[in-house]
Amino acid sequence: MRSDSGHTTSIWMDTADVPSLPRLTGDVRVNVCVVGAGIAGLSTAYLLARAGRAVVVIDDGPVGGGETGRTTAHITAALDDRYYEIEKLHGDDGARLAAESHSAAISRIESIASLEDIDCDFERVDGYLFLGGRDGRDELEKELEATHRAGLHETKIVDKAPLSFWDTGPALRFPRQAQFHPLKYLNGLTRAILRDGGQIFTGAHADKIEDGEPCRVTTSDGFVIAADHVVVATNTPVNDWVILHTKQAAYRTFVIGARVPRGSVPRGLYWDTPDPYHYIRLQEVDSKIDPAGLDDILIVGGEDHKTGQEDDADERFKCLEDWTRERFPMVKSVDFRWSGQVMEPIDYMGFIGKNPGVDEHIYIATGDSGNGITHGTIAGMLLSDLILGKPNPWTKLYDPSRKSLRAAGEFLKENLNVAAQYADWAKQSEVGSYDEIQPGTGAVVRRGASKVAVFKDDSGTIHERSAVCTHLYCIVNWNTAERTWDCPCHGSRFDPYGNVVNGPAINPLEPVGSETPSSR
Ligand SMILES: Cc1cc2nc3c(=O)[nH]c(=O)nc-3n(C[C@H](O)[C@H](O)[C@H](O)COP(=O)(O)OP(=O)(O)OC[C@H]3O[C@@H](n4cnc5c(N)ncnc54)[C@H](O)[C@@H]3O)c2cc1C
Ligand code: FES
Repeated sequence: MRSDSGHTTSIWMDTADVPSLPRLTGDVRVNVCVVGAGIAGLSTAYLLARAGRAVVVIDDGPVGGGETGRTTAHITAALDDRYYEIEKLHGDDGARLAAESHSAAISRIESIASLEDIDCDFERVDGYLFLGGRDGRDELEKELEATHRAGLHETKIVDKAPLSFWDTGPALRFPRQAQFHPLKYLNGLTRAILRDGGQIFTGAHADKIEDGEPCRVTTSDGFVIAADHVVVATNTPVNDWVILHTKQAAYRTFVIGARVPRGSVPRGLYWDTPDPYHYIRLQEVDSKIDPAGLDDILIVGGEDHKTGQEDDADERFKCLEDWTRERFPMVKSVDFRWSGQVMEPIDYMGFIGKNPGVDEHIYIATGDSGNGITHGTIAGMLLSDLILGKPNPWTKLYDPSRKSLRAAGEFLKENLNVAAQYADWAKQSEVGSYDEIQPGTGAVVRRGASKVAVFKDDSGTIHERSAVCTHLYCIVNWNTAERTWDCPCHGSRFDPYGNVVNGPAINPLEPVGSETPSSR
């Protein structure tokens, strides 16, 4: 499948067909417009279409072309920020609701896959959190107690994860978590939405999102979708200028897919405790990848860095491969390497609900951490309830307007880091001449007071755009692995020609010479 979020190919993109969907060719009037066809957008659209609402979904790429096509799809209530930390910021009740909502999301995915007969390799498996780095057993004990207080009574410390070839040391076992093939699941949701009268248009970029009665979503082709409610499910909101983006930070994370003999690694979800952590699972593959039917793909992720602040993907893939080969001696070859972006909220919980500020009918879903499959499904459940006027016990926990005063330390750390990125304006050119830019790569050069993002395509042709991010004017950096311009401030990303790949930017990089981004 074609991905609009980067150059690398995930195992999912290589093993699922993506439905061919029409482009928008005129104005539309509906009850609900959902912007973004990832797990959050399609889960919301599915539940609303089932409830009889007229729904339209638009996406500027294909279905699943964003981070849902780049995930590793551990479906779990084992939250990567830890329950004992969530308790500190959200209290015992908050931690309990977090456990309840993520567990409910796993069950909801299972029931939708079953009801809609979606052949998406959904499988219940146990999850194991084991120690890494200098972490000691007390880390697991603290989390064990916190999970019990949060209502996950079946978690238990075991002597080791069930891997005969590697002594992981003690592990916290989370029974009955799950895994699936994310794109096959989205294909099933797509089919069901269309069956229930919903409409899905791809290749439709939302340029402007306005509240009102009705709300108006204007696409870059100039068409207008008028809707009673709008759900902005673009992974990071493209309708919010500042507030949300001071409360979350974008990180790039890396994944390899290694071929191992089928059955040599027990199926399960595995994570270690350091930050960044490693995340591991298995995926069976079909005859296209494994004609003899002898192998599984072992998926291992980690090595995260802040988006746009490093460009050393090859080293990170190498570290992942070394780490994996040391612990999984049965690895035959590394067949997949890809990366993706996760949004880390400063207080650990996603932001799902009404857009902060004065908007009355606009909803957002963002701040997924590494738990975006369950967060995206929670978004579907919570946002459909809010739009249908039904009470939902998770509303307050995920409220995007919540005050995160107890997370002041994280807030300060992330925002000081953002402030420091503006120093890039003073930097000199990254290359002395265009000859130094290799085909298929880019570099930022200084031209007078301007900064120019220069991309040399595979045939040697130069393409120039302003290097000033159209969100809040930081200078973008080249991402060699994904062939994108990545902003180090809030995670906006642009393709080599300047088109938006990830928000919060909604407008493309400007032509060279106009440093003032267009207003939205
Ligand atoms: C490598 C990796 C591993 C991960 N592992 C896990 C895991 O094991 N478990 C887990 O739970 N989570 C995991 N996550 C997180 C999870 O995959 C994501 O949080 C989740 O898929 C995000 O879904 P989404 O629907 O919010 O966003 P997306 O899937 O990114 O969908 C957003 C869509 O919006 C579209 N869009 C954006 N802007 C516009 C616009 N202006 N107009 C029209 N369309 C627009 C995009 O094209 C995109 O298709 C992982 C993420 C990564 C990258
Ligand atoms: S993403 Fe905010 S300035 Fe670029």
